[in-house]
Parts: sequence; C-alpha cells; structure tokens
Amino acid sequence: MANLFHPSFGSRPERIVGRDEIIEQFLKGLEREPGHRDRATLILGQRGMGKTALLLQLAEEARSRGFVTARVTSGEDMLEEIIESIQLAGSEFVTEKSTKVRGFSAGALGFSFGLTFSDEVRANYGFRTKLSLLCDRLKENGRKVLILVDEVQPDTDVMRTLTSTYQHLGGEEKDIAIVMAGLPSSVSRVLNDKVLTFLNRARKYHLDPLSSGDIMAYYSDAFAREERSISPKQLLRAAASTRGFPYLLQLIGYYLVEFSRPGDAITDDMLENTIAAAQQELEEDVFSPTLNALSRKDIEVLGAIAKNEAGTATVAEIIEHLGITNSSFQQYRSRLLDAGIVTAPREGALQITVPYLADYLRDNPTPR
Ligand SMILES: Nc1ncnc2c1ncn2[C@@H]1O[C@H](COP(=O)(O)OP(=O)(O)O)[C@@H](O)[C@H]1O
Ligand SMILES: [Mg+2]
Repeated sequence: MANLFHPSFGSRPERIVGRDEIIEQFLKGLEREPGHRDRATLILGQRGMGKTALLLQLAEEARSRGFVTARVTSGEDMLEEIIESIQLAGSEFVTEKSTKVRGFSAGALGFSFGLTFSDEVRANYGFRTKLSLLCDRLKENGRKVLILVDEVQPDTDVMRTLTSTYQHLGGEEKDIAIVMAGLPSSVSRVLNDKVLTFLNRARKYHLDPLSSGDIMAYYSDAFAREERSISPKQLLRAAASTRGFPYLLQLIGYYLVEFSRPGDAITDDMLENTIAAAQQELEEDVFSPTLNALSRKDIEVLGAIAKNEAGTATVAEIIEHLGITNSSFQQYRSRLLDAGIVTAPREGALQITVPYLADYLRDNPTPR
C-alpha cells in the first residue's frame, strides 16, 4: 500500500487538514455576483504553511463548480500564462456553434476556433481584451473563470495590470474570480495605492499553524487506513512534534509509515526515530537551503533572535547583541522577512516562525 503522506513542497496532500472554514468561505464567495468583493481572496502564510496546497485544493473545488482555472506563479510571464492556461483548460468546454456566413463558417467573435484567438486579436489586443473575450466565450458555454496567483509579488507591473484588469472585468460583470497567495511580508510593503486598495478589499486569510486536535483527528484516521495502531499518547506526541506545521505533519506521518508495517502497533521507539528522522530531513531540505540563500550577517541576525528561548527578539536587543547600526539592520530585516523566515509580531520585534529553526540555530551557532 502506498504511503498516504507526501512530504514535498507544492504538492496537494491526500487530504487538506484544518482549512475547512477557509475553503467554505471561498466557495461562498464564488457564488456571489461578479464584481463582489468576496470573489477576490488573499491567502497569507509563511513558508511550508500550506499556501500552494490550499490553492490546488481551491482550484479543484472551483473546477467541480463550473470554473475554468488558471494557476500561475507570480512573475514576468504571468499574464501570458493566465491566458494560455485558460485556453488550454477551457477548450474542452467550448462547442463550435459555427455561424454560417454565406457558406463560410466563422468562429465566435474574436476567435478563429475554440478558444484560439483570431489573428486580428492576437496581433492587436492585450491582456484585458483577451481575458474579456475568454470570459464571454466560456460564459456562452456555461463556464466561469478563476485565476490563482501563487507567491504573489504585489509591487510589480504585472500585478498592477492584473488587479486593474480584474477590477474592470468585474465591473463589466464578467464571471471571474481571483485568489492570491503569498508571504505576509510581501504584501505588507506594497506601495502602489491601487494594488493596496484591491488587496485590502479582498477576503484575507492568514494560514496559522494547524490545531493539535485537527492533526490528531487526521493522524488517527490516516494511520487506521494504513493499518497501523497508535495509542492516544503517541498520537498526542506525534501531533505536538509537528508544531502545527503542515510540512512536518506530512514528514512525520511519512516516516511513521515507512518505519512500520501494516498490522503493526506503533512502538515508542518507532515514534522517536520518526521524529528524529523528520527533524533531520527538515534541517537538510528546509534549513540548509534557506540559510544558504542568506548572507553570513543575515544568519547572525537570526542567531541573535534565536538566542531567546521564544525565538522572538526586539530590534534593540538584536542591534545591541551584534553591535550594528539601525540602518544596516533594516536591510537584514527586510531580507529575512522576504525569505518568509521571520515575522514582525509587533512593531520593533522579530520572530522566527519556521518551526525548530530557532532550536537549530541555538545548537549550530555557525551553520556554515
Ligand atoms: N492543510 C494541509 N493539510 C495537510 N497537508 C498539508 C496542508 N497544507 C500543506 N500541506 C503539506 O505541507 C507541505 C507544504 O505545503 P505547501 O503548500 O508547499 O506550503 P507553502 O506553499 O505555504 O510553502 C506539502 O507537502 C503539503 O502537501
Ligand atoms: Mg508554495
């Protein structure tokens, strides 16, 4: 039997744990009329908190409700990718009701056939017109459009174009909705007013760590399906070890299944070995690449924060500990925020949010 658990970034788990409320609210939003603010959703969360997994799930749910979906990662080519994805995913729903014009058959206005644009549209029109034509054509065929943008970078030209286009189309009652996901820091420093207003109006969800209850309920069910028996005490220990982090939920589940066989009762040894293996993999697959992407000084700043047991430090503490100026500190601060490793829980403080990273930095003061 295959391992139910999939510890890898950007993959859709066999079940989404603990996000029912968000999924439900999102689906309610989709039922609103075009242009309604609930049709735009913004999902914020740190690395590994499950943004991509949730986007995949939302896309799936939307598809089963008549939406054609385009899921892209923020970047230069994003707008072209949105158009192409809708064409690809939507073409199967478009039937050719070719209008006979004096013996010739012509496609729908703006299209040569299916969802392929006519040469004229291709050559002369931009993103907004193309998206608008696609919405119309799909609507004739009973379909709506959902755009999903992962790793959103709000302060870019393409995002400005996307948000203004989306708002125009919503105003014209095109049947379109949008979901964006990204790091809290990438969104908190948007300068462009229009994008900011748009993001502020969207339905916002912050992906918090999963609750221990949700994880235990899921583990209990998943291990039963894997034919492993596990005691309530072990369940509690396994769930607590994830620290609510979806990536660790997958990792710990994965090793527990690998280290045992169907019909086995999980032993405490198996469980402790699992937790150790998961932590080691977390260090190798998440911490090392993350830290390698940072400068030595960035890591020293992290180290200064990690010194405090809670993984939180005030700016004053950090500056004093490292003997640096406030202005040079600012540059480390924004890099760490951008990397999704720390958050600013309040003004003048930084917190390490990647689970176990503070412990790791305490044990390995100079990781490189
Ligand atoms: N709600 C969830 N329930 C179960 N597993 C999840 C959940 N969210 C994410 N995961 C798993 O955790 C890992 C990290 O999720 P991912 O979506 O890649 O995080 P992010 O995009 O926020 O960095 C993946 O293996 C994913 O399948
Ligand atoms: Mg992701």
